[in-house]
Amino acid sequence: MSFSLPERVTLKGPNFIREVFERGVGVPGFISFGIGNPAPEAIPVQIIEEAFDKVVHDNPMSLLQYGPMQGDSRLAELTLQRLEKVHHMNLDGQGLIISNGAGQLLGLVPITVLEPGDEVYMDDYTFTSAINSVRNMGGKAVGIKTDADGMIPEALEKAAQSGKGKYIYLIPNFQNPTGITMSLERRKAIYDIASKYDLFIYEDDPYGEIRFSGESIPSFKSFDHENRVLYAGSYSKTLSAGLRVGFLLGPEDVITAIQALKNNTAGQMPLVTQKVVAHVLDTIDYDAHLDNVRAVYKEKCDAMLSVFREKGSSKVHLTEPTGGMFAWMTVPESVDVEAFFEAAMERNVGIIKCGAFAADGVGEGHSFRLSYTVPTIDEIKTGMDILCALTKEFCGE
Ligand SMILES: Cc1ncc(COP(=O)(O)O)c(C=O)c1O
Repeated sequence: MSFSLPERVTLKGPNFIREVFERGVGVPGFISFGIGNPAPEAIPVQIIEEAFDKVVHDNPMSLLQYGPMQGDSRLAELTLQRLEKVHHMNLDGQGLIISNGAGQLLGLVPITVLEPGDEVYMDDYTFTSAINSVRNMGGKAVGIKTDADGMIPEALEKAAQSGKGKYIYLIPNFQNPTGITMSLERRKAIYDIASKYDLFIYEDDPYGEIRFSGESIPSFKSFDHENRVLYAGSYSKTLSAGLRVGFLLGPEDVITAIQALKNNTAGQMPLVTQKVVAHVLDTIDYDAHLDNVRAVYKEKCDAMLSVFREKGSSKVHLTEPTGGMFAWMTVPESVDVEAFFEAAMERNVGIIKCGAFAADGVGEGHSFRLSYTVPTIDEIKTGMDILCALTKEFCGE
């Protein structure tokens, strides 16, 4: 028999990320700015190895039964402590779920809160899974225009006037794909609109701890006096993505509902990875470790930006991230984006076309995502030399 799948399940944007991966894999000398993985040298391999050893050998039976539905209690405690003390979040009336990375939440939040036809407001270019999971639940992903400070409040308000909105999805720090960080003023203005139209805010912050320059900006959750923010974090970029450990903090009743759906669809989190993360947090100086991670990302980002400043066309714009993993390169509208992309691929440099991240469908964008995390510093310099030469060929000096 052939299944006929509902349209909402098969709706998705183009997979330009996979395209670059597949075309580049095994090609000698191919330099990919397309891979969105954390930098390998930022993963504390030995510390994690030792934690596994300790956790597995100390009390194996504590790993071998079902764990608590809401996650490992020590990990939850350590996570909450950090959110309260370091990130100044008020934990009154809040619940916490440990999840399979922040990624699992991108599915769980819409599956729990959306009715078919509900609108979800998000940056016009944003994280692909966040767009697709809304569509897959029968919701409407509505892209809102952004500028150098993030989502534009006036554009958001205009969209919210439809009265169909349920939540605003935001990556306020070092946004994926643009690398942009939303200013505090913007955060406050967006919060006020959420309040006016009774929307909640889904603050997805997997990169927040990887600020490598400038001052950190208060999270939405830290000034959430109306209890309308769901805050998602992750240990993927700070410890290891393979461990698959993230978390969600939010109003207790919403978290309880999300928890119930998680239990129905995915059951409990594995205990071993949660206990490894808890053990690492219990035994290392996490802030000192984060400084090391930030130094790795800063060096790589600086390498990318300095070649661009020196050799890129003055007609092309590259965002200057102050943390995270991505920069966003925009070419003039007159440039044939497809031809630029193909020319880069021909010269063995992979970049991701902006259509991959378009909330409203592929559209006419003229930008590319560049990730500086996986290539070595030498590869970044070589790849950027090639890309900068292309910017001059296509766009002029
Ligand atoms: C904005 C955003 N949210 C969530 C995730 C998923 O992270 P995790 O590894 O914690 O599942 C990513 C990963 O790339 C991301 O960029």
